[in-house]
Amino acid sequence: MQYSKNSMVLDESPSERISRYSQLLSGQLQRLRQELYPPEAHKNLRAFSSVDVARLIGVSESTIRQLDLDGEGPTPTRLPNGRRSYTLEQINDIRRVLAERRRPEEVINVFPQRREGEKLQVIACANFKGGSAKTTTSTHLAHYLALRGYRVLAIDLDPQASLSAMFGIQPEFDVEPNCTLFGALRYDEERRNLSEVIRPTYIDGLDLVPANLELAEFEHIVPTAIATGASTGENIFFRRIKNVLAEVEDAYDIVVLDCPPQLGFLTLGALFASTGLLITLHPQMLDLASCNQFLGMSSDLMAVIENNGGEMNLDWMRFLITRHNPNDSPQTRVVGLLRALFGEDVMTAPALESTAVANAGLEKKSLYELEPGAIGRETLKRALESMDSVNGEIEQLLWSSWGRGE
Ligand SMILES: Nc1ncnc2c1ncn2[C@@H]1O[C@H](COP(=O)(O)OP(=O)(O)OP(=O)(O)O)[C@@H](O)[C@H]1O
Ligand SMILES: [Mg+2]
Repeated sequence: MQYSKNSMVLDESPSERISRYSQLLSGQLQRLRQELYPPEAHKNLRAFSSVDVARLIGVSESTIRQLDLDGEGPTPTRLPNGRRSYTLEQINDIRRVLAERRRPEEVINVFPQRREGEKLQVIACANFKGGSAKTTTSTHLAHYLALRGYRVLAIDLDPQASLSAMFGIQPEFDVEPNCTLFGALRYDEERRNLSEVIRPTYIDGLDLVPANLELAEFEHIVPTAIATGASTGENIFFRRIKNVLAEVEDAYDIVVLDCPPQLGFLTLGALFASTGLLITLHPQMLDLASCNQFLGMSSDLMAVIENNGGEMNLDWMRFLITRHNPNDSPQTRVVGLLRALFGEDVMTAPALESTAVANAGLEKKSLYELEPGAIGRETLKRALESMDSVNGEIEQLLWSSWGRGE
């Protein structure tokens, strides 16, 4: 259908109208952000009680209290009701204090960062089915790992920038040109070191490479790079992400890659870079069919990579069942089918569907950021239990990759 300027109800062309809507929406999003995160329109992480701290570090609450009474470690804020309240920075200080006191073989439990000989872990959340909870999974995993005391780098590989938005970043305002992963991946003289596009977040120990639409350019420059011979040998396109990660390897324990919902060059690079692959899957028949296509295409592409001298470094791959409602019988049948087909490669813990996740998502928060009492106590507890089980299982996989005893 042809649109003429006159065929529109308003006196503007389609491009003018869409541009006006984009500006309206952009302004509204900024206002919302100011309302959500006053006073500076920046996100902050909540504080934690001594019960939370004990649980996060894996020691008793009395240990935490005693440290404070002995005047060791950080001094918590005292709330009006006398309770202690800690920031994540303080929790990480406590980890260091406790680590100094432990016998070497026990240090790992309170201070679990990787040590010599343990290689950087790179976890990709992928599936080309839109809405399979890739971003929700990446966000919760990155937050969980940072709260557990690891040094984490989250990379937004989706030009739609949903992961960046979860960190309170509005891609069109907050991300300057050449400040996404594209800046480090490009083939021309504008290329930057990965460290230059990494930014700290409001969560101690968790850094981010944000995205915006610029990232989509990678899909366009790769064919040119292949044609001009720039994409060869160590510079071949599928090695690009893995190689740039090596530039910052020493600064992190775990990298989390939130892939876009398509199997383009970015996703392919992420698959090649990853040591752990999480295929997120909402247990519905249509999603299954789409997942099947994803698997078929991925395997074809990986075979091409392998035939071109690329050796994959996957320590593990797992299907993660997402947004699962165990009371929905068609869903449980699909889950049964998946478990029968893929056995141990389906994670034991599913991510249960919860209004807590959806509501927190509306405020661009993970469950770990919600203040107790922000939503119904039981709802939050159940949702957190599910998310902790998923993330705990992934943490176990990391420990196995590092050869740590169970
Ligand atoms: N466990 C859950 N319970 C309830 N809602 C959820 C859950 N997990 C994800 N969602 C919601 O599902 C929607 C899609 O999730 P998400 O954005 O993480 O998917 P995605 O795979 O990253 O999507 P895309 O393919 O567009 O990148 C979001 O609105 C999110 O809040
Ligand atoms: Mg996403």
